Amino acid sequence: MSDRCFIPIATKRLRLRAFRAGDEAAFLAYRADPEVSRYQSWDGCTPADAAAFVAEMAAHDADIPGTWYQIAVARKDDDAVLGDLALHTSATDRRQVEIGYSLGSAHQGQGYATEAVAALLDFVFERLGKHRAIAAMDTRNHRSVALVERLGFRREAHFLEHCWFKGAWSDEYAYALLAREWSLRRAA
Ligand SMILES: CC(C)(COP(=O)(O)OP(=O)(O)OC[C@H]1O[C@@H](n2cnc3c(N)ncnc32)[C@H](O)[C@@H]1OP(=O)(O)O)[C@@H](O)C(=O)NCCC(=O)NCCS
Repeated sequence: MSDRCFIPIATKRLRLRAFRAGDEAAFLAYRADPEVSRYQSWDGCTPADAAAFVAEMAAHDADIPGTWYQIAVARKDDDAVLGDLALHTSATDRRQVEIGYSLGSAHQGQGYATEAVAALLDFVFERLGKHRAIAAMDTRNHRSVALVERLGFRREAHFLEHCWFKGAWSDEYAYALLAREWSLRRAA
């Protein structure tokens, strides 16, 4: 399949597009990396997991309440998949979404996540007309914290020992951004 479910978005260096057959190996490479999964809800990935993920996302639509949709972050020059973005539409209020993001270790520290998530926020607020986006992360995930703060998210909560995570209690930050805050930031 193609980009039927998600119209590709071009940024300066990237192309955000639907996952499709052929992306399995690239997805597996970063998804199986313990550095990438360290603060994620999942651990590890097999070739069968990667094949199932790509098949599922290729047939999925974005913005279905109560579901996650993941978007491939591809390099514009050669279409190499560097990571992915995730979008979850609230089951109870479809004007609210949660976002997620992952980049392969080799592609971090180059501004790709900032560029990709900024484009995702344009999509969320301008094209989908959402009111509020949230992001949550383990407080030790400093790169994730820096990313959302760079993009203007407000920290709304610090949950202490909020969940049992990979063998220990972990703290979590909750961040949010309103459509009007994003629009002011873009205008500036
Ligand atoms: C969270 C995550 C996506 C952040 O990635 P990141 O690489 O730190 O963020 P960016 O791609 O925006 O890169 C920003 C860095 O690139 C630098 N940079 C280099 N070239 C740049 C350019 N051309 N433009 C902008 N920034 C550039 C910035 O100065 C910044 O450097 P710093 O880290 O020293 O401050 C990444 O760490 C990740 O995938 N982690 C594993 C998965 C994960 O935990 N996901 C979040 C779960 S909540």
